[in-house]
Amino acid sequence: MLIRAFHDLDREVVDRLLAEAFSGPQPGGSPAASPPIEVVLNAALLGSVEFIPELALVAELDGAVVGYCITTRGWIGDRPALGLGPIGVDPGVQRGGIGSALVRETLRLATVRGEWVVALLGDPAYYGRFGFVPSTDLGIVAPEPAWGAYFQAARLDPGETPVGTFRYAAPFEAF
Ligand SMILES: CC(C)(COP(=O)(O)OP(=O)(O)OC[C@H]1O[C@@H](n2cnc3c(N)ncnc32)[C@H](O)[C@@H]1OP(=O)(O)O)[C@@H](O)C(=O)NCCC(=O)NCCS
Repeated sequence: MLIRAFHDLDREVVDRLLAEAFSGPQPGGSPAASPPIEVVLNAALLGSVEFIPELALVAELDGAVVGYCITTRGWIGDRPALGLGPIGVDPGVQRGGIGSALVRETLRLATVRGEWVVALLGDPAYYGRFGFVPSTDLGIVAPEPAWGAYFQAARLDPGETPVGTFRYAAPFEAF
């Protein structure tokens, strides 16, 4: 498996990949929109000022793009932070370590960049293994407090104490 930066030429295949990964029922049981909101959100993120090219990653298996993860600029109070997502893996190869490789590489690259915290909305059973904890454990308030423990954060710089309300890149506000 190869993890590399997303390129504009990957766009169509990434749209298709996210559409397939997010085509299942939504939390709460309602059917996914068509295309799923993650496809529309990702397109908006790629065109936003909060886009960070080196933190949009694809995973390739035998030359085919099978995974994607984007992390964009967000804020805690007035301080720049990062928001991870959407992330998706081709349903045919899920549970093969591709999602984990994308998350781990994102955290590595973010650390190298000198970023101090990454936040995301997702299942704690999955993201806990990468060091994510409920954001409130770190003093970070979710954009929607109802998200509870599903809004998580990983602190990259142990010397930093992030306190405040997290705000995602502007395109998230439409969803
Ligand atoms: C979530 C996702 C990116 C994980 O990628 P992946 O390549 O399948 O995951 P990995 O192979 O790295 O990890 C597999 C492990 O994660 C667990 N896992 C995968 N998705 C999970 C989820 N949504 N919630 C909890 N655990 C999950 C598996 O049970 C497995 O656990 P195990 O190692 O204890 O057996 C992928 O399943 C996916 O695209 N899902 C649909 C889209 C989605 O839900 N995206 C995330 C929104 S936050």
